[in-house]
Formats: sequence, C-alpha cells, structure tokens
Amino acid sequence: MSIIIEQYKNTVATLPMQKTWTDAPLYKYEGFWYHQGFWFQSEYASFSLEAVMASQDDFHAQPTDVFLATYPKSGTTWLKALAFAITNRTKFSYGPTHPLATTCPHDCVPYIESEAYINNPSYANGLLATHIPYTSLPKSIISSGSRIVYICRDPKDVFISFWHFKKKYIDDSSTDPIMLEKAFECFSKGVFEFGSSWDHVIGYRKASLEWPDKILFLNYEEMKRDAKNEVKKLANFIGHPFTEEEEAKGEVEEIIKLCSFDKLSKASKDRDATPNVISNDIFFRKGVVGDSVNHLTDEMIQILDKITTEKYEGLDIPI
Ligand code: A3P
Repeated sequence: MSIIIEQYKNTVATLPMQKTWTDAPLYKYEGFWYHQGFWFQSEYASFSLEAVMASQDDFHAQPTDVFLATYPKSGTTWLKALAFAITNRTKFSYGPTHPLATTCPHDCVPYIESEAYINNPSYANGLLATHIPYTSLPKSIISSGSRIVYICRDPKDVFISFWHFKKKYIDDSSTDPIMLEKAFECFSKGVFEFGSSWDHVIGYRKASLEWPDKILFLNYEEMKRDAKNEVKKLANFIGHPFTEEEEAKGEVEEIIKLCSFDKLSKASKDRDATPNVISNDIFFRKGVVGDSVNHLTDEMIQILDKITTEKYEGLDIPI
C-alpha cells in the first residue's frame, strides 16, 4: 500500500493548496479538497488524496456491489449498520454475538479509499463505502452498473458534527470561538475535507435523478422521522426486500433497534480497548436533528441556509 500511495505524492505536490482551519494543507483535485494524509492517522494513507487516486486507478467494481456514499458526518455509520444488518439478516441472530453488537459498523463495511480495504479487499463482501465525490468515483463503479446509496444531511448539522469530531483530535477541551469561526469560513467556502459538502451532495443528487434505479438518495432527517419506511426502501434497493412474513414478525423493527444510536454507541467496548484502533465513541455524539442551532450564531445559520437554498435550487433535495 505505501508503495502504491508513494507514486501519487509527486502529483499531489503539483496541485493547488490551501490551508484549512486546523492549519493543515488541503489539495484541490477534480474540484474537491483533500488531505494528503488523514488528520489522525498520518502514518496511514486512509482517506488521503493519494488513496483516492489509488482507488481511481486500481479499484474494480463488480455489478453486484453496493456502495454507500456519503459526505463525512452525514450518517455514514448508521447507513453502514443498516445496510450490513439488512444484507446479513439470515446469517446472524440479533443477540449479543451479532457483529454490530461486538464491533463497529466501520469494521463491517470498509471504505474503498481506506488502507483497511486496500490491504485486504477480500473482506468487503459486496458492500462497500466511500466519501469520494460522484464525479471522482473509480470509473468501474459507474460502468459496472453497481448500485449506490447516498445519504445527505442538513449542512448545518454536518458542519457541527464535523467540528466536534475533529476537535476531539486536535484539542478536545477547546471551546475557542475563533476556531469555530475559522472552521465555519472554510466549510462555507468548501475548503474542507472532501471539498464543498453542497457540491458533494449535488453530484450524487443529479446522478440519482438521471439513474434512479442505480442511485438511491436518502436523507438523515427522513431516516430519523420514518425509519421503518426508509429501511424498507433501502432493503428493496439493495436487493434484500423484507418478505410479508418477516414484516409480520417485526424484522424491520429488530433491525432498526439493532442499528439505533443507543445500541450502536454502547457496542464494541472490547474493540475500543484494542491498541491503535479509533475508539467507537468518536462516531456517536448526539444523533439528533438540528443540534447545530445550539452552536451556530443566527448569522451563521442564515449564511449556511442561504448557500443551501441557492445551491440546491431545482434539485428537490429534502432537507
Ligand atoms: P452528531 O455529531 O450530530 O451527533 P458519520 O457516521 O457520517 O460520521 O456521521 C456521524 C453523525 O451521525 C453523528 O452526528 C453521529 O452521532 C450520528 N449517528 C451515528 N450513528 C447514528 C445512529 N445509529 N442513528 C442516528 N445518528 C447516528
């Protein structure tokens, strides 16, 4: 992996660079901004621009593959858990030995741009995830006809979730408003990890309108509002619809419970004790809609809402 990644370093060095709010450099590639190395795993190449380039060159999708695509902090962990639980529901019982009760959803569904996947592609089992923008996806994902599920979320909540997530790694105790302002400015301008969250959503939204049978477009708020309906929609789309008997037995509700914030956040305590593994709790903060109002000023809210309205005009994106 490190050898594969090494060959892209020279290309990255030629790209436009800007510092983001943490002072880390981001590089602009195909219209989106990336780290050269992920901020908390700099010794690894996961989520780095080099890993994105490597997956563009080396990843070969199968027609039966299902990709869970997201901008970070939009509900990736939840979507991974649901898709994994739906797909594997005949293999595991819902008790304490279920993989989602003993490990993290990120261990069950790998990202194609992560070192874990690149080093061990065989563990993917047809269900994969990515943060790569639609227009930069490895070409075989589109040409093979594989299916993509995308989940979007109110950009205000995405921003605040990201801010908390990243703060855990740079200075857990900081409540410095200047850092929030700096992060806000970078997020609003799209000079943020994986680029503009709005442009990320727009790429997948346009594709989903053009190829609705290949791309399912979900949203976090609707999942919270009507999980049963959304889970059934997801199961149908990924080719594992619930039978009438399963529905009558309450299988949909079982899966929703297994993948609930409470259950997942309490799972995998043993995993957290493993050295060099990102602790599970980093992926679970509050899991509610609208928490951003508790952190953003009225002016910040207005600015983000204005960008959202303008950017999403005519795309019927439910936020
Ligand atoms: P908050 O920071 O607003 O709480 P991602 O998985 O894309 O990194 O997104 C993380 C966000 O999803 C966090 O939001 C996290 O708390 C929330 N989340 C994680 N698991 C969830 C679940 N099972 N149900 C609802 N929200 C969940």
